[in-house]
Amino acid sequence: MEKSIHYFENPGIENTDKVIDLVKTRKEELGIGHIVIASATGRSGVKLAEKIDNAHIVNVTHHAGFRCGDDLEVTPEYRKELEDKGVEIYAGSHALSGVGRGISNKFKGVTPVEVIAETLRLFSQGVKVCVEISIMAADGGLIPTDSEIIALGGTGTGIDTAVVLKAAHMSNFFDLRIHEIIAMPRP
Ligand SMILES: Cc1cc2nc3c(=O)[nH]c(=O)nc-3n(C[C@H](O)[C@H](O)[C@H](O)COP(=O)(O)O)c2cc1C
Repeated sequence: MEKSIHYFENPGIENTDKVIDLVKTRKEELGIGHIVIASATGRSGVKLAEKIDNAHIVNVTHHAGFRCGDDLEVTPEYRKELEDKGVEIYAGSHALSGVGRGISNKFKGVTPVEVIAETLRLFSQGVKVCVEISIMAADGGLIPTDSEIIALGGTGTGIDTAVVLKAAHMSNFFDLRIHEIIAMPRP
């Protein structure tokens, strides 16, 4: 089987629209019904929802306390647009840091789950993010673990990576399977 991967010369937000176009095509080819996107503010989630029909979309934002104290980073404007478009918004503990982040922040060590995260970053920040948000959405009961989905992530802001994967719950993390890389930055 031959499939194409789109490589970006640089990571970053400028790749967002192209990734969404590629996701739209691959979604149709594979008949995928669930899409999970990492979008802290909701901006990339809105862009995705504007382009994609006939799919259940989950917009995963950072956990409260990541940047804005007890508030979530999804802006009221993007929240309304997402809700109007039927997109589910999810926030929870980050699957690939979790309480481990609290331990390593306090004691200056590293936890196994953070090593998993750093290993996935060998591909790109976005590949790590795609895996992480899929676990989070599955644990939130928002996506299935017995069929393929598409996940989108990026490097800090915007989107530069998309993969086709079968999600898993955190308790059986190693059952997760990355089936296809649709796009990622090459550096
Ligand atoms: C749960 C979660 C974890 C994330 N982890 C990382 C990360 O490890 N590295 C990174 O570069 N970006 C990370 N991001 C940022 C996303 O990949 C993406 O670039 C960003 O959420 C897009 O938000 P925007 O639509 O507001 O620009 C994370 C986002 C979320 C929601």
